[in-house]
Amino acid sequence: MKDETPEISEVERRDPRTHFSGKKIAVLGCGKLGEAVVRGMLESGFAQPEQIQASTRRPARAEALRNNLKIVTATDNRRVAANADVVMLAVKPNLVLPVLQEIAPELTQPHTLIISVAASISTAQMEHYLAGVQHPLGVIRAMPNTPAFIGEAMTALARGLHTSDAQMELARGMFLSIGRTVVVEEKHMDAVTGLSASGPAFIYMVIESLAEGGVRVGLPRELALELAAQTVVGAGCMVLQTGEHPAKLKDAVTTPAGCTVDGLLELEEGGLRVALIKAVGRAAIRAGQLGSAGLSQSATEKR
Ligand SMILES: NC(=O)c1ccc[n+]([C@@H]2O[C@H](COP(=O)([O-])OP(=O)(O)OC[C@H]3O[C@@H](n4cnc5c(N)ncnc54)[C@H](OP(=O)(O)O)[C@@H]3O)[C@@H](O)[C@H]2O)c1
Repeated sequence: MKDETPEISEVERRDPRTHFSGKKIAVLGCGKLGEAVVRGMLESGFAQPEQIQASTRRPARAEALRNNLKIVTATDNRRVAANADVVMLAVKPNLVLPVLQEIAPELTQPHTLIISVAASISTAQMEHYLAGVQHPLGVIRAMPNTPAFIGEAMTALARGLHTSDAQMELARGMFLSIGRTVVVEEKHMDAVTGLSASGPAFIYMVIESLAEGGVRVGLPRELALELAAQTVVGAGCMVLQTGEHPAKLKDAVTTPAGCTVDGLLELEEGGLRVALIKAVGRAAIRAGQLGSAGLSQSATEKR
């Protein structure tokens, strides 16, 4: 019999019902991504500054975060993780498992949720490193992208073996504060990384090229860039808000014997579709290799 369970849940926008009151979160490795999530949680009202603690490697970075965000910061991961309801690991992939091992003695509460935003590191790997902890802990692997910095992220979430529905909701609420979320099976996470985490870089190249095209036909550079960027934003919103297939939306722009069809022909000849399809594929393959590459690198560094 065919399994009717959908692989991907419905994408949802910010949900004001989800709340985090009275809970504490530790962000270990509060760099660019960690800070974006913390800012999102604070600015959306999902969490208050006193609910958030963060760690960094450098004391100066910890101090800057403390001054700017009014949260408690430290360079001691164990201290920051102690008594947290949610521990979010936002260090580089090669450090996720060592940091998990480091904080394991502090993970004494059975309800503590571990979230990693690192590429490539699986929930099974994290669960393996948590095997010595007294209670099986809920683990979630999350993959946001850089539009998190302006509250427009796309975050995919995958659950581990012991993750409860309530913990998934909690994580979804957290990431809704930086944009949209979608729940996926973990087998899709490297593909998600290749598409939506690397994707902004691909689209920046598209925007840059569209603007270059505008300059080529006589537009001032600044104007060309604004037209190109808003065109990409508008087209993306049309796909999301109308629910129409992009091919149908494309057809609606393309009048017979008009100018758009000539442009489309150039794109087909230039291999835009194939190039983007291959770009996502290559990035997804590399995403699958990052964790092990990083781990062997850190092992080499230790020797
Ligand atoms: N940036 C993205 O677009 C993006 C998107 C999705 C997922 N991710 C994932 O997010 C993670 C972080 O990426 P990022 O771009 O935010 O990197 P980042 O800016 O370099 O941040 C890493 C942070 O980890 C800290 N750190 C280093 N060693 C540490 C240790 N032993 N204990 C605690 N903290 C430590 C660093 O502290 P210092 O600042 O003091 O050096 C830094 O603040 C990666 O795993 C990446 O795969 C990133």
